[in-house]
Amino acid sequence: MRIFLLGVVSVLTLLTGCAQSSESSETEEFTLAHNMPADHPIHESLVDFQRILEEKSNGNMKLRIYGNEQLGSEREAIEMTQTNAIQFTKVSASALEGFSESYSLFSMPYLFDSQEQYRETMKMPEIQDAFYNKTADNGFIGITYYDAGVRNMYTNDRILESNDDMHGLRTRVQPSQTSVQMIEALGGTPTPMGFGEVYTALQSGMLDAAENNESALTDNNHGEVAKHYFYTEHAMVPDILIMNVDAFNDLSEQQQEWVQEAAAESTELHEPRWDESMEEAREIAEEEMGVTFHDVDKSSFMEAVEPLQETFQQNEATKEQYDLIMGENDNE
Ligand code: GCU
Repeated sequence: MRIFLLGVVSVLTLLTGCAQSSESSETEEFTLAHNMPADHPIHESLVDFQRILEEKSNGNMKLRIYGNEQLGSEREAIEMTQTNAIQFTKVSASALEGFSESYSLFSMPYLFDSQEQYRETMKMPEIQDAFYNKTADNGFIGITYYDAGVRNMYTNDRILESNDDMHGLRTRVQPSQTSVQMIEALGGTPTPMGFGEVYTALQSGMLDAAENNESALTDNNHGEVAKHYFYTEHAMVPDILIMNVDAFNDLSEQQQEWVQEAAAESTELHEPRWDESMEEAREIAEEEMGVTFHDVDKSSFMEAVEPLQETFQQNEATKEQYDLIMGENDNE
């Protein structure tokens, strides 16, 4: 809470600073918040976005980046983006589910067939209309996506051979209804909470398990308190860069293009960086933190979530997006 309050104070200070500097030198300054530490690949890719935007605009569009939940959790950062207290934030698509139902689709287990197809889909121009522009009435739009890896289960000490072993497992999920339904379908006990709270909850035994990409073990230190990681590969939930819609509309056409181009270029740079970071994370987790990585037979996990997948097939609210992604699956 204290960090959040400090965050609010900084945002107010920033806003004042922003207005003054734009009057005096025509330089525009924007604020971007996210929840990862400075050595996380997503932070580095956002720094790419910052650098490219500044280069394209000849130094006239500057970005201040606040990572590590300094300005609050994902939910709080989205709310600050809605009111233009900050202009950008990077959040999991899962956190956007509460603002636009279309985003719930990304938390549907086993949505994508492969990482290649996931990346191709996320870069299709149609994604813009099907997802990014749908939240304009909520005060923000999507600008680009960043690969946030494949989500897998990890536990304090429980061994998972099939989804039966998840029975009664208190499992952290992102605060999204679809994620809650997924863990219920798998037989676990879903415990929604913000990412910043997970380490302590695992450490205190309040949680038995969580699910995330490999970097959660290292960059966020969960490998200190969770010693088994299982390749259930149940979801690929993208990170989305969102921007306040008025801040975007207030830009000149040229500036809007720079924002879009800088974001797209940073997404391209992010992909190889991501792959390398995940390999490194596994190595560090295994060798320095004593985490054991397990291959699992995914079939029981996939079967258990079929009813949830069926509800998406019939959901009119996400049909346009579902068809778009499935069309891309079939084209493989
Ligand atoms: C991923 C994702 C984050 C998200 C986190 C979570 O790491 O990149 O944006 O906050 O998962 O599980 O909450």
